[in-house]
Amino acid sequence: MPQPPYADIMTLPLLVDCDTGIDDAIALSYLAAHPGARITGIVSTGGNVQVEAVHRNNLVLAELLDLDAPIARGAARPLVQEPMYADDTHGPGGLGHAELPEPSRAGDPRSGAQLWVDLARSHPGELVGLVLGPHTNLALALEIEPELPQLLRRLHIMGGAINHRGNTGPTSEWNVAVDPEAAQRVFAAFSTAPQRPVLGSLEATEAVRFTQHELDLFITLAERTGHPVAQILVDALRFYFEFHEADGFGWTAHVHDPLIAAHAVTGEFAGTRPLAVDVELAGTLTRGQTVGDELGRWAREPNVELLTGVRPELFIEHLLGTLETDLR
Ligand code: BDR
Ligand code: CA
Repeated sequence: MPQPPYADIMTLPLLVDCDTGIDDAIALSYLAAHPGARITGIVSTGGNVQVEAVHRNNLVLAELLDLDAPIARGAARPLVQEPMYADDTHGPGGLGHAELPEPSRAGDPRSGAQLWVDLARSHPGELVGLVLGPHTNLALALEIEPELPQLLRRLHIMGGAINHRGNTGPTSEWNVAVDPEAAQRVFAAFSTAPQRPVLGSLEATEAVRFTQHELDLFITLAERTGHPVAQILVDALRFYFEFHEADGFGWTAHVHDPLIAAHAVTGEFAGTRPLAVDVELAGTLTRGQTVGDELGRWAREPNVELLTGVRPELFIEHLLGTLETDLR
């Protein structure tokens, strides 16, 4: 039996930095449902849609999922380059065809970067960071508190494509491509962390491929429970399938972020291997590419644990099983 990564604590305090986003919404729902996870803060980062829309999605989902963690709005734009959005992938509001109610609770007045810093300082050595969107706000937080890598228990990142095509540019993955400078700074700063960050790049997350079977399981969940979040996920997923079909992948959806969340909480569904990774900032064709030094040519210490050997069937069963316990 694999050991849970944090066998010494009952519930893992997590800060989730996300650009919600269809798969981000599934990850948040999963974390809200898992008895071993406690979301202590959410940072809304612009990416899949503008930061205002991401923030609204996070506020509404948190309310419907009964989460009372602070939710802070992040920066309006990436560190250097112009913003870009993926409303073709995630829909104009970020959650596909889902129609959300107005949020009735307010966000936290702090910036996303400040929330990173405050939660890391108030849970020294305990807080697990989960980056499911661009790295902008974590990079800004490092400017306020350069000791963040020492304060966090561990960082888990969905980002990059190592030995795999991109899903944004030919060689770049979305979360890194939106803000390559931020990703580069995070990888560099966390090379001093006591525990290497766990990087779930596309070759791992694209192993999780929903088919009509998984969509049917979500539809059944929504029908049986009548839970508003289950219905939001169904309406969001239908859009995600339509996008993937239009993009040439067939009637399917790559569901990235929940795998990273589940691996962070359970330590299961994939293994890891150490690797030195950096971000291409200057390439005229390859800006935003995550480059992994497989042969040690840079003579640098590995700075990530790369997720590998994903077991998608086990993961999907666990994901649905966890959601079923909570969305009642
Ligand atoms: C990542 O990009 C976003 O569109 C998804 O939410 C995921 O975090 C995959 O490249
Ligand atoms: Ca995301």
